[in-house]
Amino acid sequence: MLSSRFTSAILKQIGTRTVIGPATVFMERTMSSTAQSSSNSPTDYWNITPTKVNDLDGNHWKWSCFRPMDCYAADISIDMDKHHVPTSKLDKIALRTIKILRFPTDIFFQKRYGCRAMMLETVAAVPGMVAGLFLHLKSLRRFEHSGGWIKTLLEEAENERMHLMTFMEVSQPKWYERALVITVQGMFFNAYLAAYLASPKLAHRLVGYLEEEAIHSYTEFLKELDNGNIENVPAPAIAIDYWNLPADSTLRDVVVSVRADEAHHRDVNHFASDIYCRGQELKEISAPLGYH
Ligand SMILES: [Fe+2]
Ligand SMILES: [Fe+2]
Repeated sequence: MLSSRFTSAILKQIGTRTVIGPATVFMERTMSSTAQSSSNSPTDYWNITPTKVNDLDGNHWKWSCFRPMDCYAADISIDMDKHHVPTSKLDKIALRTIKILRFPTDIFFQKRYGCRAMMLETVAAVPGMVAGLFLHLKSLRRFEHSGGWIKTLLEEAENERMHLMTFMEVSQPKWYERALVITVQGMFFNAYLAAYLASPKLAHRLVGYLEEEAIHSYTEFLKELDNGNIENVPAPAIAIDYWNLPADSTLRDVVVSVRADEAHHRDVNHFASDIYCRGQELKEISAPLGYH
């Protein structure tokens, strides 16, 4: 039996961490009963209060998923037509793979570009997180820095997820589309992880070409908006704040910003692949942090 003094010392050591065995049960019961006696609010119990954030005008910031310092104006002057001409066998494999994957996507979505954008962003947000995780683990294993690449790749994943949050305001997924996303995510996450383990230069090249296809899709989206086949509704509030857009912006302005983001992702991933192709590691060349 543990003495109450010893048990108390253990609880101080383990804090909120989960441990296995009887101590877990004891800790949960103890904390639960204490929490109930003091307050029903986890905020009060843990003494962690959400930070209050104001925008530049001093108004309350209503978004919890991003802060004013995460907002930016997309650089829409970036070259949309830039293309990495495949030279090596690896480049050709990457380009061919993406072209093959586009085929079923075109058939499934056809000209439903709002839905297409929402669904494709669920895939586009995966590679940055996988690559960032891979580099994170590598950094730990080798006791070395990453040259800022972990943060850059996680920034990309976050940016793609913000695209998804934006398009969720424009188009809601149906039950079978949610099921498709779960299936595709399971397959794509594992496939991309395997690709990254096997060849980071192939993995980044694949994403470079995927982003080129994303630019093409958003260009088609803009054409449909311009010819009136898709209604140019007001921009969602989340998009106006995230991209610092004027208050009267429309869906078209949002798509222009998103397309510019994709062009930046294209450049970052082709750049990363080129570094590997030169026989270097990413950490040898400073990452393009905050490249929008
Ligand atoms: Fe995206
Ligand atoms: Fe992208």
